[in-house]
Amino acid sequence: MKTCKHFPLCGGCRYQDIPYPEQLRMKESRIKEMIDLFELSVELKPINHYQEWFYRNKMEFTFSSDEKNVLICGLHKKDKTREIFNLEECLIFSPQAGTILNLIREFFKESHPPYNKFNHQGFLRHLIIRETKTTGQLMIGLVTSTSDKLDKKAFLEKLFSLKLDHKLKSVYWIMNNRLADAVIFENKDLLWGDPFITEKLGNLNFRIFIDCFFQTNPRGIENLYQKVQKYAGLSGKEKIFDLYCGVGSIGLFLAREARFVWGVEIKKEVVDNALVNAQLNNIDNISFICSDVRKFLAQSDISNIDIVVINPPRSGLSKKIKRCLLRTPPPVIFYSSCNPQSFFTDLKDFSSHYKIEFIEPFDFFPHTPHLECLALLKRFQ
Ligand SMILES: C[S@@+](CC[C@H](N)C(=O)[O-])C[C@H]1O[C@@H](n2cnc3c(N)ncnc32)[C@H](O)[C@@H]1O
Repeated sequence: MKTCKHFPLCGGCRYQDIPYPEQLRMKESRIKEMIDLFELSVELKPINHYQEWFYRNKMEFTFSSDEKNVLICGLHKKDKTREIFNLEECLIFSPQAGTILNLIREFFKESHPPYNKFNHQGFLRHLIIRETKTTGQLMIGLVTSTSDKLDKKAFLEKLFSLKLDHKLKSVYWIMNNRLADAVIFENKDLLWGDPFITEKLGNLNFRIFIDCFFQTNPRGIENLYQKVQKYAGLSGKEKIFDLYCGVGSIGLFLAREARFVWGVEIKKEVVDNALVNAQLNNIDNISFICSDVRKFLAQSDISNIDIVVINPPRSGLSKKIKRCLLRTPPPVIFYSSCNPQSFFTDLKDFSSHYKIEFIEPFDFFPHTPHLECLALLKRFQ
């Protein structure tokens, strides 16, 4: 059984010592149990799965120091979220992860201290690495406090010395003095290259910027979008809402075969990214609205909308949002989520007005307990 050298210390992939076919069975059983628990009568489609290793396109690593005060950079230890271990490889992310982290630790070890999240002293906070899976591009983002200076030229020269399969396209320096132990883009400086890397899903190109949400398993998400496209069976006449649209991905997949798509997203920079993606793919029958979905629905007439696509954050939909949707229920809803608990809670609430045609699981997160699910809902006549 293949496991990475950090298993089981790492808090990331808890299922690594379980053979992959067994992981898939476990995930399917969990969904079956939830269907029973929520007393839903629904078809469960077989679980979709993809590449088992090296599937993630983004990771955030944390700087810290070990007991000998040596600089380390890695991930949180399992069940000890205050402690970081030094990462040498990551089999769900990239074969190049170890090489990049080694070089960065080497570069900073004598010159800059890690940030201490308890006394808020120190410089080095996080390292973001994004790599595209279809175009072989790499983006690196160094996150620091502003307590020190960065020798930008020397840092870039060090990065240029990397010998990698992927092509380095973009390097950012992100400054963050907030107390919260999270990557916050208080200030960002594009040190070198393009401000984005480009991923290809189906026949569409997507620009990925340092600070925007992009689904972490491109091969999986491409498959989910293509399935939504197929199940929607569009005729060119449909008007579609893509709620929580992010950088516009599902909406753009559907727009080519629909009359018009409206995407709704709360973050301005993500809406800007979605607009860039629409232009890049020459799709003009889509518009993006920067708004809270709740406010948008409260002010919108949805009586002439044919399909609503919903892909909310993990918390799912609030009661208010569900009430808004159920006031004039659209004929068809596609609902996808990476949190089975909120997914089932929401489906149950919709089931008073909708037949849930099927639930289809997608294993976007092999070796972890996480799972994406899609449901197709058709309004009772
Ligand atoms: C799970 S992501 C889905 C993104 C997109 N559907 C995709 O497939 O890439 C959820 C998105 O909803 C946005 N979001 C979170 N809360 C929101 C709200 N109340 N109203 C509108 N958008 C919101 C987030 O910024 C994020 O881009």
